[in-house]
Amino acid sequence: MQVDHVLVDARIATMAPDGDPYGSVADGAAAAVAIAGDRIAWVGPMADLPTGLGAARRTGLDGRWITPGLIDCHTHLVHGGDRAHEFELRLEGASYEELARAGGGILSTVRATRAASEADLLASALPRLDGLIAEGATTVEIKSGYGLSVADEVKMLRVARELGRVRPVTTRTTLLAAHALPPEFADDPEGYIDLCAGPILDAVAAEGLADAVDAFCDRIGFTAAQTARVFTAARARGLAIKLHAEQLSDQGGAALAAGMGALSADHLEYLDEAGAIAMARAGTVAVLLPGAFYFIRETRLPPVDLLRRLGVPIAISTDLNPGSSPLNSPLLAMNMACTLFRLTPAEALAGMTRHAATALGMGGDTGTIAPGRRADLAIWSIERPAELAYRIGFNPLYRRIWGGK
Ligand code: NIG
Ligand code: FE
Repeated sequence: MQVDHVLVDARIATMAPDGDPYGSVADGAAAAVAIAGDRIAWVGPMADLPTGLGAARRTGLDGRWITPGLIDCHTHLVHGGDRAHEFELRLEGASYEELARAGGGILSTVRATRAASEADLLASALPRLDGLIAEGATTVEIKSGYGLSVADEVKMLRVARELGRVRPVTTRTTLLAAHALPPEFADDPEGYIDLCAGPILDAVAAEGLADAVDAFCDRIGFTAAQTARVFTAARARGLAIKLHAEQLSDQGGAALAAGMGALSADHLEYLDEAGAIAMARAGTVAVLLPGAFYFIRETRLPPVDLLRRLGVPIAISTDLNPGSSPLNSPLLAMNMACTLFRLTPAEALAGMTRHAATALGMGGDTGTIAPGRRADLAIWSIERPAELAYRIGFNPLYRRIWGGK
């Protein structure tokens, strides 16, 4: 076996869907993982470590736990400005929806993002991305959606692509032009959908700037019919689709997205049984975003038991954004998924690894520790994997390996 690096004396939660809920190697006894280039070559108990790995570098881990690198599958981390003032206004009684209707909310971030240069956006996004990496993230999805014009959506996605070139992290970019109605189209929502489904998509596709297309289907976003128009155009260009669905109201968005083959439907507080059944049938991942639930003080819980019963895979993400979820911590998102949504710590970790990979269409490549997968690993100074979701505001990351390095 041609191997470059062997991590030994570890405990390993592969997060593969067999064995205990963590896919633990040998019930948490001493284990090892061998890396060849950017791939995992072998994983198993220390006792079975293949012989003839003489030339490979060996690193002892003193019983630390190795998990797959974390995958944050839903972020808006590229944006201008902040919304701290709206936070103050909400504390004086305004609601998230009221601020949006009064021209604040997403549109206030649109003004700041339009005024920013690519260099400004890159500089402000880097510390946010670094914060995710510092907690073990090896893959991060990044959306546009604060430009809402051809030039400004392209600008955001160029920055998102650039982030993946300047940091050791895999990025996936998503066009979210149908996020809010820009002021110049205030009286012409259908005209704006024409722009999203035509010129914006064409410009983004011409530069290869997006891996997927998203929309915000809600009372303060777009209707299911408008969303379908954007999705049809995306599919025609071979792009994956996903949706902000059922966050503030039930628009049937999840069923629509699932019916069109979406990778994921995200938020889902108002998801009904028909929507969940459609997702189960299509294999659409439910991405739950407890940071947004917490920060805008939602009271309606996503139907977790229903999703479990129907076998819908559940992913967890930060939704890192300036308005509804300024949450720069995958670990805290996992804790919130447990405390607020009553996921188990194992479900939360699967939601930040295996199921998050599926939500990005990367399930065959990352998200579990298995031979042939990318060597994207997080090594933690913990005694049991449940600690990752248990602590609040504590980062036990010891080391992170991205693509074998
Ligand atoms: O995921 N729901 C719509 N989009 C974002 C919020 C964006 C914002 O408020 O700036 C979300 O919650
Ligand atoms: Fe979002």
